[in-house]
Amino acid sequence: MNDAVSTLTLSDARDDFGVAGRPDCVRRPMPSANVDERYVLSELPWDAGALAPYCSREMIVLHHDLHHGAHVDRANRALQQLDSARRRRDWLTVTQLETDLAVNLSEHALHTILWTNLAPPTGAQPQGTLRAALDNSFGSVDAFREQFMTVATAMRSGGWVTVAWDPYGRRLVIEPILDRHSIAICNTHLLLVCDVWEHAYSLQYGKARNEWLEAFWEIVDWRNVESRLIAQLSVFVLEPYTAPLFGCAAGT
Ligand SMILES: [Fe+2]
Repeated sequence: MNDAVSTLTLSDARDDFGVAGRPDCVRRPMPSANVDERYVLSELPWDAGALAPYCSREMIVLHHDLHHGAHVDRANRALQQLDSARRRRDWLTVTQLETDLAVNLSEHALHTILWTNLAPPTGAQPQGTLRAALDNSFGSVDAFREQFMTVATAMRSGGWVTVAWDPYGRRLVIEPILDRHSIAICNTHLLLVCDVWEHAYSLQYGKARNEWLEAFWEIVDWRNVESRLIAQLSVFVLEPYTAPLFGCAAGT
């Protein structure tokens, strides 16, 4: 067990984020259910050519503007149609549209996390709290990378490979999302996501997913991943169903 995680408490997280104790992303109000509100395709946090040579400008533009943008459009369309179907009390259509919304909103969320997980290459490796959590959960950063790569390479169709924080066991877990069927532990929180649909890499790497995965590793912004982890360490968990592993009860 690594002390950096075993002794980390809510008060430590408060020190990282100031008096309010939460980063901006946690402090934002709940999204409104107002049907007039629309999901928005966010701007990339860096210039589209900034990830070269690992991701070409053309590949990023295609991925963000076309593929991610299409999911945002479809999610908004489903939202609008849901409102209309509910007014008609057409529950069969509502059921189908809820599925459409789930698929496209999930893709919107995953892509939005992806862009913030990436940054121009610096050669940096996981440090601090994230490094401690990786060591605790997987044995070492190298073992984590090996497992992550194996899961991502073995997926026969497209999907996502994600790393999430399990607030009950207080450990990191790797959760594949296979062809939109998530093998995820409910109520875990995504920290790192890798898109292994072909549209994410084929323009530059053809069918060589392993080359994309090697490139992905070079452009992960580990500080972003660590910030997401630290934010989760300060989240109060209702009704934990297991004893805390690292000597700090959830929310204490
Ligand atoms: Fe994608």
